[in-house]
Amino acid sequence: MDAPKESGLRNVSSVCSIPEMDDFDLTKLLDKPKLTIKRERSFDERSLSEMSLSRGLDNLELAYSPGGRSGFDTPGSSARNSFEPHPMVAEAWESLRRSLVHFRGQPVGTIAAYDHASEEQPVGTIAAYDHASEEVLNYDQVFVRDFVPSALAFLMNGEPDIVKNFLLKTLQLQGWEKRIDKFRLGEGAMPASFKVLHDPERKTDTIVADFGESAIGRVAPVDSGFWWIILLRAYTKSTGDLTLAETPECQKGMRLILTLCLSEGFDTFPTLLCADGCSMIDRRMGIYGYPIEIQALFFMALRCSLSMLKHDTEGKEFVERIMKRLHALSFHMRSYFWIDFQQLNDIYRYKTEEYSHTAVNKFNVIPDSIPDWVFDFMPTRGGYFIGNVSPARMDFRWFALGNCVAILSSLATPEQASAIMDLFEARWEELVGEMPIKICYPAIESHEWRIVTGCDPKNTRWSYHNGGSWPVLLWLLTAACIKTGRPQIARRAIELAESRLLKDGWPEYYDGKLGRYIGKQARKYQTWSIAGYLVAKMMLEDPSHSGMISLEDDRQLKPIIKRSYSF
Ligand code: GLC
Repeated sequence: MDAPKESGLRNVSSVCSIPEMDDFDLTKLLDKPKLTIKRERSFDERSLSEMSLSRGLDNLELAYSPGGRSGFDTPGSSARNSFEPHPMVAEAWESLRRSLVHFRGQPVGTIAAYDHASEEQPVGTIAAYDHASEEVLNYDQVFVRDFVPSALAFLMNGEPDIVKNFLLKTLQLQGWEKRIDKFRLGEGAMPASFKVLHDPERKTDTIVADFGESAIGRVAPVDSGFWWIILLRAYTKSTGDLTLAETPECQKGMRLILTLCLSEGFDTFPTLLCADGCSMIDRRMGIYGYPIEIQALFFMALRCSLSMLKHDTEGKEFVERIMKRLHALSFHMRSYFWIDFQQLNDIYRYKTEEYSHTAVNKFNVIPDSIPDWVFDFMPTRGGYFIGNVSPARMDFRWFALGNCVAILSSLATPEQASAIMDLFEARWEELVGEMPIKICYPAIESHEWRIVTGCDPKNTRWSYHNGGSWPVLLWLLTAACIKTGRPQIARRAIELAESRLLKDGWPEYYDGKLGRYIGKQARKYQTWSIAGYLVAKMMLEDPSHSGMISLEDDRQLKPIIKRSYSF
């Protein structure tokens, strides 16, 4: 990184109070002793305990070690360690760079899929796709969630500028007035995606954004704002550049997102009530209610905000609300969403129609509603956060993203995190099979599929969102493996991906019980499949990279939870 940024950093340290926290012990994660880990990063989450203590500036130590390798075509990390870079890595970088989208000469994101049908289009002229093929739908856009693995790849490769551009561009879009018919969306809503329109004659670039008003099903993406906050922290952590998060614009952006999800209403639970299709699974798939994916991202975004919000008059109020919510949310999730052999057995024996505070079966779940598959699926060792919990409804499906993010954010206790990894090992064939990894397990079939998906032909059993296998999830699995000290699981999964991904043209998803078939309607050259692979590779080679996307266990959450358990 260049000198001005360093001096910028020093300036900030006099205003910002983000003390260094214990980085987790990376050495325990390594099963390859020859690997030398450089401890480069110093920005870390502010622990809850520190919030209540005096937040002195003196302990802010910025051991800033720049990793600027901009302009390199292959990642520097491969060269730094003793690993031989896999031939796929260079190809992946090339494809990732080809997916770059520019706005007025600056890279601002990556296109969702660079379909070869339109190969003759020069990079950046994505608007022309519309006429080239109707099939493109909205895959010619920059999706916020899809950009996350791209962003991490660029950050890990020492190229933070595109990430900064993206964060600022989407922040600008947040400021737009958002309407669906005659109804106005909350101010903080972030777009699901945006598209750059190039006018070659006038030589102008304009942006159109989709906040749900064009999306199939017209659902606003609840995950976008959370990913934005998580990415802002990853950028800050990776570059050591605190100035971006400190700007009044970013502070306001965070507060607006938080306003949307911290507002009080009729809720009796600390979890966030959502419509079907509001996240990565952006079609009707029975995830309405309190889907695990959103709850885990919510928890993570809250913790990331806590580390970045200033303690000025406006920020302070949010910090207090966040802390209260984190306590309630972690208690709720760890107690009611968690399932393992013991818990399943308890639910199986639940009494129903209990009233009052002493009720054990608080949500009045009828044991008969437990699906048969879960009894076979549940190993003696292992567990996971189930898909959804609401009155008389437990969705026992396992979802990859939510469980991995629960590990990364430390929503899962260390015991729960290990149990999730145990489940991966015990149910490898079901969850990983021949292509990592299933978006959810199991698929919904027959009558249930008709009712739950509304007969969606794209979501037939073991396809797409309905039990399909998504290579992008490899980066989340790898990060979770590193966090839990089990890199060998990630290594096994990456090897599987390497045997097919490039050859198959980086599909968006695979179909079938084992994920053996390229998805029926899967795009090729799906950017997040490419970036997800690269991020997984880079993290495994240099596990310190995972620090930008994982948060340490916060000790202060524990005693409060213990107390809650006892009433
Ligand atoms: C699909 C996915 C969604 C993704 C989009 C663009 O609709 O379900 O998660 O963001 O494609 O790749």
